[in-house]
Amino acid sequence: MTNIEMETKIVKPTDENLNKAKAQILNGDIVAIPTETVYGLGANAFDSTAIKKIFAAKGRPQDNPLIVHISDICELKSVASEISDTAKKLAAVFWPGPLTMILPKADAIPNEVSAGLDTVGVRMPSHKVARDFIRLCGVPIAAPSANVSGKPSPTTAFHVYNDLSGKISTIIDGGECSVGLESTVIALGDDTAEILRPGKITIDDLLTVISTVKIDDGVFTKTDDTRQVSSPGMKYRHYSPNANVIMLKGKLTDFFRYVSRHANDKTGVLVFDGEESLFTIPCISYGKKSDSKEQASKLFSALREIDTFGLKTVFARVPAKDGVGMAVYNRLLRACGFDVISLAPAYIIGLTGQTGSGKTTVSEFLEEIDMAVLNCDKISKEIISNKDVMEKLTTYFGDEILLPDKTLNRRTLALRAFENEENHCFLNSVMYPRINKKISISIRELQKKGHSTIVIDAPTLFESGADGICDTIISIIAPKELREERILVRDDLTQEQLQSRINAQHDNDFYTKRSNYIIENDGDLEQLRQKAADIIDTIETKKKACEKSKA
Ligand code: TXA
Ligand code: MG
Repeated sequence: MTNIEMETKIVKPTDENLNKAKAQILNGDIVAIPTETVYGLGANAFDSTAIKKIFAAKGRPQDNPLIVHISDICELKSVASEISDTAKKLAAVFWPGPLTMILPKADAIPNEVSAGLDTVGVRMPSHKVARDFIRLCGVPIAAPSANVSGKPSPTTAFHVYNDLSGKISTIIDGGECSVGLESTVIALGDDTAEILRPGKITIDDLLTVISTVKIDDGVFTKTDDTRQVSSPGMKYRHYSPNANVIMLKGKLTDFFRYVSRHANDKTGVLVFDGEESLFTIPCISYGKKSDSKEQASKLFSALREIDTFGLKTVFARVPAKDGVGMAVYNRLLRACGFDVISLAPAYIIGLTGQTGSGKTTVSEFLEEIDMAVLNCDKISKEIISNKDVMEKLTTYFGDEILLPDKTLNRRTLALRAFENEENHCFLNSVMYPRINKKISISIRELQKKGHSTIVIDAPTLFESGADGICDTIISIIAPKELREERILVRDDLTQEQLQSRINAQHDNDFYTKRSNYIIENDGDLEQLRQKAADIIDTIETKKKACEKSKA
């Protein structure tokens, strides 16, 4: 079927125009309407044929459900089959307003609206034109944002026109949307809520009514397209201008330097008010740095405006993440496809210690508390099977370090390497430069992903020279008998082999002299984790103090 282009009119919300638009809605057509958040593309929520037209006009994926809009609380029972006390309490405080609640769906709501789910998103907008129009139509209005799928949501009638002209007949012009970002979407539990999409109604706002508020993983992290997600809309690339947007996390001076180094005639910037004069390339501000509400109201316009320059790359300043800022950050994160570059050099923590000292336990603990850990044992295992490394090793040690299938016999290699100093030195001279190169590459990659603290977990941190790039070093030591016990449990060694391993280790003094922090692991695992946690606290406090004094 070919789509016949139609004439699209932007009309003022006069009685006459609203009545004409009502007739269109009741006739199974779609109409763009203003709300306080963004413009919506509305249809009769009970009419599955009309709903299909919304999906077609927007090019919206079929599995992304729509929000149903009501004008009065008494309409809720025609949309939702169950209205919990928690929902009632929240509606009493936040409706009319930018809060969407996910509730069990009433049978009258077609599957096209809920995209097959047994729940439905409902909200009562506070925009007068929106509510008057829904009341006039006499039916709930299902409406997603009135943009082409994937583009920034429209906050003026003109934005809607730019995206959908020829595809819809009427856009009701209710002026510029005051909030500027879509509603907060929440799933409900008993006296609890989970934020699926942040908006103007913040966690703190919700906590004035209910006891617990959680944030869904998809708010700040990329959800892969195949995974079951709580809110299907979160898995799609969103709010994207044609240009490639990249967030640069850091101070204005670092932002300026980075942009100066990387800009060409197809580069622009998205900055805060007052910063524009620094740049001679296309530059749009999205509000004051300290005013998240203003940023919310300007972001989508700014993203559309910056795109009029025909740029390839747009570097954006990073908004604060708290309060309404969480919604601004969430939308910008999606606009840039999660591409965030951290400008400040990452803080590098070196982690080392004797074999059997408990270093791995500490390393796992640091990973649990969300630090990026580079495990040099793993890196070394990868590198050692590289062709050029294997050739060097077999030339020196002979084929006896190979298994019958020509892969490396790690155990024989370890025994040969510990045989004498010369062998040990040779192995190190092959491995260390390669490991260090891999460490530098990985640090750059992690930093690009926005990690500001990176741990290098290396048994031979000092010998390899990797200590040179660490900002601080933690060493784990343990009494000799305890280490022997742990190694014996872990590895299958003869007494003689165990002793040669232990003798090859440095004594405590070696570590104390070279480290900023020493953890003596002479207690149980819980004590070890606590000691590590205390040190990390101290490091974080010092880091903050240092950043403050530099700022
Ligand atoms: O402010 C807004 O909410 C605007 C205006 C027009 O009201 N509407 C809007 O609709 O943003 P839309 O379709 O662009 O976004 C709806 C979001 C999507 O992320 C969708 O996946 C989620 O709400 N959603 C809708 N129904 C849902 C359901 N039953 N379960 C989970 N998520 C749902
Ligand atoms: Mg949308």
